[in-house]
Amino acid sequence: MKYMWEGRFKEKTEEDVINFTSSLAVDKKLALYDIEGSIGHTKMLIKCRIISRKDGDKVIAGLNKIKTDIEKGEFKFKSSDEDIHTAIERRLIEITGKAGERLHTARSRNDQIVLDERLYLKDVLRQILSLISNLQKKMVEKAEANFYSIMPAYTHMQQSQPVLLPHYLLSYVEMLERDKSRIKEAYKRLDILPAGVCACCGTSLPIDREYLAKILGFSGVSRNSLDTVASRDFLIESAFDCVLIMLNLSRFSEDIILWSTYEFGFVELPEKFCTGSSIMPQKKNPDVLELIRGKSASVIGMLTGLMALMKGLPLSYNRDMQEDKRLAFSIFEDTLYSLDILAKMTGGIRFRKDVMKEKISQFTLATDIAEYLVKKGVSFRESHRICGAIVRYCLEKNKKFSELSINEWKFFCTAISKDIKDILSFESSVKVKKSYGGTSPEIVRKELNRWKKILK
Ligand code: ARG
Repeated sequence: MKYMWEGRFKEKTEEDVINFTSSLAVDKKLALYDIEGSIGHTKMLIKCRIISRKDGDKVIAGLNKIKTDIEKGEFKFKSSDEDIHTAIERRLIEITGKAGERLHTARSRNDQIVLDERLYLKDVLRQILSLISNLQKKMVEKAEANFYSIMPAYTHMQQSQPVLLPHYLLSYVEMLERDKSRIKEAYKRLDILPAGVCACCGTSLPIDREYLAKILGFSGVSRNSLDTVASRDFLIESAFDCVLIMLNLSRFSEDIILWSTYEFGFVELPEKFCTGSSIMPQKKNPDVLELIRGKSASVIGMLTGLMALMKGLPLSYNRDMQEDKRLAFSIFEDTLYSLDILAKMTGGIRFRKDVMKEKISQFTLATDIAEYLVKKGVSFRESHRICGAIVRYCLEKNKKFSELSINEWKFFCTAISKDIKDILSFESSVKVKKSYGGTSPEIVRKELNRWKKILK
């Protein structure tokens, strides 16, 4: 027998059709999950007395042998293996004969593929969670080691106000925590056993899906057979969560790329994580970060592909869905890879406190001056106008705030007194930002300690 479905056909299938429809090159990745599912399925068939213990044991031993061969890289795929399910079943029958022919009882490749995908994805999401925590830890370490660094915060890529570097780093820790919570949510919906719904309508054989869920480690069983083989929302949802992660990584990468330029000079990147130029000997390029930014574009495209794939498919299973794997696998792999390398690289970034501080313009204190006037009883709008005029004046006279005499200050507003000098430092600027969520060292220290506890 060459093809498991050949019984119904009189004509020999075209070679081209076999190649065109094969998914083996992509779904090979699911091999170990497929075997795990099949071993569970066999145990269930034995327990429900659908196959004999003798046959079942043979099947399980055969599957374990195939598993070892695959792990050692010794498994031989054949060009006639349509997909990973077929390859493993074909080999099983070669090894165990008639017993192996009983494995595909009370199941279809339609539920089998969803089972494989769910087992695979549960693994992936767990890895993602731990890699995100790793990255968060690295950021927290950097935040702690550079606690008193002050840098300009940016809006519109223009300097806005002084901010503590740890406050910046913890902003990413926050974003990544939300990413984790989304992944955990997706995991709950993923953790449902699809196996046992067979082709699309269930089976007349006395299977026990609850039992199968238990031995495969699922916390629930799907409730509708059509939905189970037809839906890929679990895949799209997880893929979307990964895309959001990649967007965060991409933005962080972009900041660090900019900061590593000669023009900024805020960071020194670890050489081990940079590459050189084939022509310009002096170059040390942030290619890893650029590729993370690049891959974040690819994953957006692939997510779009996944969604488009499902739009308009009639219920229930359609072969179109086979395309889901190459899209989804790429998204998950890019995310895993990027998280891992970025955490390693972040550990080696050197933040240059001196340069960061040196590059802050005194004009970033303008809002502090405006708030100073508010505290003296001036309305904020009025105070904004006054400070605007002071900035204008300084620009025209080529002066810094700290170079203005008390008479010059008073010229703009009589409410200003000598104590204006007290607020004209970057340290005092961050110190007074004590509002909830602000950048005062007091608050940032508390947040840092909170994260250290959470990420322990
Ligand atoms: N390779 C298929 C997929 O990924 C497995 C299910 C095939 N089912 C079928 N009836 N041809 O979707």
